[in-house]
This record gives sequence, C-alpha cells and structure tokens, in this order.
Amino acid sequence: MAFKAVIISRRSSGFGARWMSTWWGNVEPAPKDPILGVTEAFLADPSPDKVNVGVGAYRDDNGKPVVLECVREAERRIAGHLNMEYLPMGGSVKMVEETLKLAYGENSEFIQDKRIAAVQSLSGTGACRLFADFQKRFRPDSQIYIPVPTWANHHNIWRDAQVPQRTFHYYHPESRGLDFAGLMDDIKNAPNGSFFLLHACAHNPTGVDPSEEQWREISYQFKAKGHFAFFDMAYQGFASGDPERDAKSIRIFLEDGHLIGIAQSYAKNMGLYGQRVGCLSVLCEDEKQAVAVKSQLQQLGRPMYSNPPVQGAFIVSTVLGDPELKTLWLKEVKVMADRIIGMRTTLRENLEKLGSPLSWEHVTNQIGMFCYSGLTPEQVDRLTNEFHIYLTRNGRISMAGVTTGNVGYLANAIHEVSKSA
Ligand SMILES: Cc1ncc(COP(=O)(O)O)c(C=O)c1O
Repeated sequence: MAFKAVIISRRSSGFGARWMSTWWGNVEPAPKDPILGVTEAFLADPSPDKVNVGVGAYRDDNGKPVVLECVREAERRIAGHLNMEYLPMGGSVKMVEETLKLAYGENSEFIQDKRIAAVQSLSGTGACRLFADFQKRFRPDSQIYIPVPTWANHHNIWRDAQVPQRTFHYYHPESRGLDFAGLMDDIKNAPNGSFFLLHACAHNPTGVDPSEEQWREISYQFKAKGHFAFFDMAYQGFASGDPERDAKSIRIFLEDGHLIGIAQSYAKNMGLYGQRVGCLSVLCEDEKQAVAVKSQLQQLGRPMYSNPPVQGAFIVSTVLGDPELKTLWLKEVKVMADRIIGMRTTLRENLEKLGSPLSWEHVTNQIGMFCYSGLTPEQVDRLTNEFHIYLTRNGRISMAGVTTGNVGYLANAIHEVSKSA
C-alpha cells in the first residue's frame, strides 16, 4: 500500500518526469579506446600526408584494405546457396573442424579422439571472453597471468569476466627483445596450477616471440608447476607466412602433454575482420569431459549472443574445405606476411641511411604485424602533431600500414623525433 501511495504522489506532483530524466545522470563518458581512438583521430585529420600505423589491420602496398581472392571465390560459391537460418549454439561444425586442424595439426590424435571441446566464437575477442567467463564459472578462485605488455583488450576481457589479473615479465625494454629470465622466474614463482595467457605467435604489441628452444623450456616449466596455458592465436600465418610454423608453440605444449585452451581468429589471416569468425577450444582429458565442457561453453554463449554469425563461418569452411582454395589461401597469407617482413627491412635501411645514431635492429628482429619501436609517448606525440603519423602512444607501429609510398616519410619523421634522444 505504501509503495502505491508513493507512485501516486509522484505522478500527481509531476515528480515522475524529473525522476526519469536522472536515469543515466551518473554515467560519465567512457575513456577512449587507445587503439580505436587513433583511427578516429586519423580520419579527422585533413592532411594529405597523414599515415595510419595505429590500427592492426592489413593494408596492401597502396595502403588499401584487402579482401583475399580465396574469400571472394568462396563468396561467389556461397552466393544464392546460403540460407539465413540460425547456426547451432556451438556454430558451424565444419568451420570448427577445419579450424582445429590448423591449431592442433591436420592429423591430430586429439581431434580423432574427440578430446577437444570447441565452439565457434565471435572472432578472437569473443573466444578470449568466452574462456574468461568459463574460467570464472568453473575455477572461481583462479587468477590469470597476463604478459607485460599485452594487447590492451586482454585486460578489459578478464576484468569484465571478474577474473583477478596478475602480470608476468615478457618484454625487455633495453634489448627490445624477450625478458626470458624474468618470464621464467615469474612462471616458477606463480602458485602451482596458475592460469597463464600466452600469445601463440606474433606477440601484440611487441612483435617479440620466444624461440622454439625457449618455448620448450617454458612448456617444461609449465609442466613442473602444473600451470594452465591459454593461447591467444590471433595471427596464425602472419608471423612467418606459414600457419604450420606459427603453431609451433602450441604443438610443443601438445607434445608435452598439456591440456590447453586456444583462441583462434580469422580476422587477420583471412582478412575477415568484420565478419567476427573465430573459435574457442579446450583440450580435455577424454571425450566425455569434452562433451561436458562444450555444453557449458554453449550455455555461456546462449544468454550473450545465442548463436554465432553464419556468413563468415561459411566463407571459412568453404575456403579450408576445398584443397584448391586452401592452397590459394596459404599463398595469400604468405604474400601478406612477406610484404610486412619486406617493409621491416626497408624501414630499418631507411633509418640507417639517414644516419640515425640509434640501433634499429629490433625492427627486423621482431615479427608479425607490429613493431614495438621504443619511441616514447612524447616522441609519438611529435610524430602525430608535426608529421600527421598516427599510432598508439606506446610506440607500437602497425607494419601493415607501412607501404613503399610512405616508408621514406615515416623513417624521416622517426629519425627527426628520435635523433637527439
Ligand atoms: C593479441 C590479440 N588477440 C586477439 C585479438 C582479437 O581480434 P579479433 O577479435 O578481431 O579476432 C587481437 C586483435 O587485434 C589481438 O591482437
């Protein structure tokens, strides 16, 4: 009765309208995403010289976005044959099957023994988020160890899944390479049975990957400590140009008998950025466990997005399910990786020719889409304000945005802001 009385008095006094207008009065604007904010600033800049080396998306040598020929052909084959029905909660079975082969190996015993719980995810981000939610639900007291630095969104993902975060050493600023000793110490010092997030290849943002030998040591130490490795593999094929070679870290862990999790994405290596197609997989002890885990992953997805999108999944399964199209894809991945590797060499050569007093060896030592340049936030600000060159303030250069046409301009600008450092 009392409640009713309040409602009536609010109505009669006109209080309702004022009350309603304060629904979102407590909402402050969210901070800009450090990566997406760069693109916004780039688009708003009218300068004809402007260069965007901020965003992690591949560009051809004319700076244009690329749709792979294998994807175009898959689209032609699908056109008119694809109905728009919902996919199952776990997504396209065919796409997931082909995706697992890329990560675990064409003839993987784990695939044959049905020991992998796998679902189609909303690209790599969605795979990470689904895993983080799964971790929270079934290992509620666990934490996640995240490398320093990492792709900024990893922090958001595990934060929103309410999994406490710890960090581990990864990058060594002085050598601009791997802090292997620091990394191994942190693995040893973490409580037994900890969860670690590892970048399978082409580490973002540093471009620094452990060598094969180092991966073996990491795997050995993980085994000794009983840690769980969750691999984020957003760039398979982008590091070396060969997806098989880029899966080496994962294969080492599999050989050593780890039960791992993997997030896969077709954003970069098939250029399907906006299609949001990827896969989350968890290797289990046996088929029964895999069935249970998969059912729970689906259960987690159901109230968030119900089932994943269909178009990208069909493109992937068409490309990878056809030997001819798969060969074409492998060729096209290599072309993209090789262009990036070539631009690393050209950028370094240009800086050396300009007489830079600094070492730029790391530009060619690092691998994948990004070069962690070592430029300070203030130097990055100068690049942007004086030269209209856009990148994140941590000095990460997306090599995919570097072209024959802008590499000289970029090198000159980097030299200008760094020569007196
Ligand atoms: C390390 C890493 N993981 C995951 C992703 C997720 O990408 P997407 O959700 O577009 O597949 C990215 C994208 O930049 C990334 O760099």
